[in-house]
Amino acid sequence: MASRSLTRAIRSPLARQFVSPAAQRRTIVSTFFPGVRTTIAASAKVAVAGPARQTRGLKTIDFAGTKEEVYEREDWPREKLLDYFKDDTLALIGYGSQGHGQGLNLRDNGLNVIIGVRKNGASWKEAQEDGWVPGTNLFEVDEAIKRGTIVMNLLNLTNVDVPKDIDVILVAPKGSGRTVRSLFREGRGINSSIAVLQDVTGKAEEKAVALGVAVGSGYLYKTTFEKEVFSDLYGERGCLMGGIHGMFLAQYEVLRERGHSPSEAFNETVEEATQSLYPLIGANGMDWMYAACSTTARRGAIDWGAKFKDALKPVFNELYDSVKDGTETKRALDYNSQPDYREKYEGEMQDIRDLEIWRAGKAVRALRPENQK
Ligand SMILES: NC(=O)c1ccc[n+]([C@@H]2O[C@H](COP(=O)([O-])OP(=O)(O)OC[C@H]3O[C@@H](n4cnc5c(N)ncnc54)[C@H](OP(=O)(O)O)[C@@H]3O)[C@@H](O)[C@H]2O)c1
Repeated sequence: MASRSLTRAIRSPLARQFVSPAAQRRTIVSTFFPGVRTTIAASAKVAVAGPARQTRGLKTIDFAGTKEEVYEREDWPREKLLDYFKDDTLALIGYGSQGHGQGLNLRDNGLNVIIGVRKNGASWKEAQEDGWVPGTNLFEVDEAIKRGTIVMNLLNLTNVDVPKDIDVILVAPKGSGRTVRSLFREGRGINSSIAVLQDVTGKAEEKAVALGVAVGSGYLYKTTFEKEVFSDLYGERGCLMGGIHGMFLAQYEVLRERGHSPSEAFNETVEEATQSLYPLIGANGMDWMYAACSTTARRGAIDWGAKFKDALKPVFNELYDSVKDGTETKRALDYNSQPDYREKYEGEMQDIRDLEIWRAGKAVRALRPENQK
């Protein structure tokens, strides 16, 4: 357990920030370790046997000609994690999608986890539905921070003013918290990035790896706080969500405007992509998917892929600039700081739900044989 002075040191700046998140900066997972904690330093020594053991877990992998170092979870079996964190209370602050996935995975791994959220907010209710008990392992933010030896910031964009005498690390799963959870339950793992901002104990990176494995990661690659923020904001606005939605809409609308039925337009735009072709890319790569399709499809895809890339690259550069100069951060902070931000998002989700393409999609999904009663 953290010393009282340390707990106070952590609590004050964070609490101030949570009350008034005006000048926030995005932190994915900030994990705070006290420099004064001899207990974990000792247990880490036993469990990890010094830097040599840590080096053994670090592998150099050739990613298409560029060598990168990665950590794999095989070096952190459950027993070792339990020993490593045996004196810790992991305080997860925030219980949105990531809090749900990471919190339940940590709990299932047998670690001592508590949740800190606003009382009676949406997250408080969701946490209770997931079995977290008020006063036992569900607390208000300040109380959870006070009790935690490791404080994990799982809020949306936040700027945390941290003391200089603690480790500050980042663990960022590469996917929605729902996937963090579902892959864990399937015995699989999500890839995550790790980074170190402050290393007071000399063990910050090791702790990031251990925590990354504990929340359900498969392998972990190293980044910096800045690179993680830039790539994450860029990716979700681009191919992962915004870009792909824009492309689906554009293709669907043209088909509909040229006389194709909703069923045909949806099947040729979304259903075939998600049910047939994208899983092939995921399993075996783009070349394999191309090769699995007709030569007619292949000819056109190769030609038009180049045209789409040329058309879209300026948009991606504009997006990266907007991330880099802080415009995207400011936009998200301003929006998410409104007291009614969840209601406003719900309005926008309803607008998407009401689009013909997604209403047609609902009907198409219902017709899948596995969804027929
Ligand atoms: N790198 C990646 O691949 C990746 C992937 C997913 C997520 N992330 C990042 O991880 C973080 C968490 O993501 P998420 O998907 O779990 O977010 P989320 O679903 O939006 O959840 C946000 C949480 O923050 C709480 N919160 C927001 N404003 C607050 C305030 N002023 N005071 C106290 N609590 C507040 C919310 O509580 P209420 O219910 O009370 O509002 C909720 O529990 C985000 O920064 C996200 O960008 C990264």
